[in-house]
Amino acid sequence: MAGSVEWDDAEIDQRLLARVLGSDIKNIHAVWVNLRYCVFIVNLIKGGYIMKVLVTYFSQSGNTEKIAKGIWEEASQANEADLKKLEDVAAEDFAGYDFIFIGSPLHSANLAAPVKAFLTNIQAGSDQKMAGFITHSAPAYPDQDMDAFTEPIKAACKEKGIEYKGCFDCQGALTESMHEAVQKKHNLSDEQWAGMVKQMTGHPNEEDVANAKACAKEVLG
Ligand SMILES: Cc1cc2nc3c(=O)[nH]c(=O)nc-3n(C[C@H](O)[C@H](O)[C@H](O)COP(=O)(O)O)c2cc1C
Repeated sequence: MAGSVEWDDAEIDQRLLARVLGSDIKNIHAVWVNLRYCVFIVNLIKGGYIMKVLVTYFSQSGNTEKIAKGIWEEASQANEADLKKLEDVAAEDFAGYDFIFIGSPLHSANLAAPVKAFLTNIQAGSDQKMAGFITHSAPAYPDQDMDAFTEPIKAACKEKGIEYKGCFDCQGALTESMHEAVQKKHNLSDEQWAGMVKQMTGHPNEEDVANAKACAKEVLG
């Protein structure tokens, strides 16, 4: 209409607010802008915070690496996630992450030596969380054995003030060059050994990777 002033909805709201409060329109505008900014920040804190996630691992024949990639894919869905071999992570880089997944094969009923060394050298930041993942050629281990294997991760978390979030584990086929030695060590017949090889072949398989992803999703929250 000629001569009329066109306001958008926000302006009308501000002018109504100014009338109700009896205040100057410029001050009300400043309050309005600050209010909107506060709502934006609150929303960001409530649901929009993007975590920095590190998935790091040691792997000689690719089994632990396969699980690491699955966990990284899952973590990348809603976070900023990096996938790095353990040797590519400097101890001081660790502090820049909110959540760290650390992966190791089982070596003689222990975490691999480079993983244990890494855990002792961590330079932790604040409010960090960590979870482990382990692959092993044995079909499964009882809980008490897993508790013992994960002890170095738990101890590092306790010492450095990191929240420990648990550990995923699954089977990973033994590399062929070790078959003869392991069969001899455990004094297994050819038949028994053939059964074990059949059982471990193909692990970690798609189901193992899917389980690792589900586990990662749960601990990331
Ligand atoms: C030196 C050595 C020691 C191992 N000791 C064990 C063991 O104590 N228990 C077990 O279940 N698997 C053992 N394994 C098998 C590996 O843990 C398993 O194959 C793992 O998935 C290998 O992971 P990677 O391919 O990421 O290196 C051993 C393998 C190696 C090379």
